[in-house]
Amino acid sequence: MEIQKVGVIGCGQMGGGIVQTCAQAGFDVRVTEVNDTFLEKGMNNIKSVLSRNVEKGRMTKEEMEAVLGRIHGSTKTTDFADRDLVIEAVIENMDMKKKIFAELDKICPPSAILATNTSCLSIIDMAVMTKRADKVLGIHFFNPVPVMKLVEVVKTIATSQETISAGKQFGEKCGKKVVIAQDSPGFIVNRLMIPFILNAIHMMDSGIASKEDIDAGINLGLNHPMGPLALADLIGLDTVFFIANAMYAELRDPQFVAPPLLGKMVTAGWLGRKTGKGFYDYK
Ligand code: CAA
Repeated sequence: MEIQKVGVIGCGQMGGGIVQTCAQAGFDVRVTEVNDTFLEKGMNNIKSVLSRNVEKGRMTKEEMEAVLGRIHGSTKTTDFADRDLVIEAVIENMDMKKKIFAELDKICPPSAILATNTSCLSIIDMAVMTKRADKVLGIHFFNPVPVMKLVEVVKTIATSQETISAGKQFGEKCGKKVVIAQDSPGFIVNRLMIPFILNAIHMMDSGIASKEDIDAGINLGLNHPMGPLALADLIGLDTVFFIANAMYAELRDPQFVAPPLLGKMVTAGWLGRKTGKGFYDYK
C-alpha cells in the first residue's frame, strides 16, 4: 500500500517537525492539536522555520507556499478518517497514548497504519488497544526532525512485515535513513544515548571535569556535533529524566538510574533550552 495522506497528532517540537518533514517530502498532511491556541503556535513554528529556509536561499517562496498548502490543521481526531498513516506525537504518557490508539482504530480506515513516535514506551501496549495490531509500529524521529537524517522503524511481536516495509518506504520518502529495531526500551539510539548522558552528569557532579570540558571532549574528541550535556539541554531534561526512568522501570538495569542532580534540575524547572536554563544558560 502506498502512503499518500498522513496524519500527525500533536504539533509540538517533535510533531511540528514531523509535519514539516512530511509536507516537504510531498505528503498531504493533517495535524491535530488539543485546542486552537496550541495549533496556532505549532503552525507558526513551522512557518518560521520554513521562512528561515527561504531567507537562507534553501527554498523559494513558491516552494514554501506549496509546502504550507499541503498542511491542514485541525482540532478534531475525526478528521483522520481518510488517512493512510497516522503518527501519534503527543507527550510520553502511556494512558494518553492508549486512548489515542483506541480512538484512531475507530476513526481510521481499516487499511490505515497507526504509528507512535514514542522514544521509550512499549508499543505493543498501544497496539493492543486496536483491532489491527499487525498495522501498528513505531516511527521514531530525532530532534530537530527536519535536520536529523535518521528514523527508527520499530516492530512489535505483532507488527506484520507488510507494515514494516510500508514504514520503511515512508521514512525513506521523508529523506531519512531507516533503521529497524525491536520494541525494546529505547530501541537503538536511546538505549545507547541515555547511559551516555547519565554518565556525563555523574562525571560533572563528581568533579572529574567541568561541563564545558566534558562537552568539548566529546564534541572535539569524538566529533559529535554537541557534547552530552548540551544535547540533554536540547532534548529537554524532563524528557531525558522520563526516558531514563521508563527504561529503568522496564529493564531494571542500573545504567538507566537517573543521577539525583537530574531530578533536582527537573524539579527546579531547569529543563534546558525550552525554559532558557539547563546545564547552560540560554537567556
Ligand atoms: N528546527 C528546524 N531546523 C533547525 C532547528 C530546529 N529546531 N535547529 C537547527 N535547525 C537547522 C537550521 O536549518 C540551522 O540553520 P540556520 O540556523 O542557518 O537556519 C541548521 O540546523 C544549523 O543549526 P545551527 O547553525 O543553529 O547550529 P548547528 O550547526 O550547531 O546545528 C544541530 C544544530 C542541528 C542541533 C546540531 O548541533 C546537532 O545535530 N546536534 C545534535 C542533535 C541530536 O543529537 N539530536 C538527537 C537528539 S535525541 C532524540 O531526538 C531522540 C529522543 O528520543 C530523545
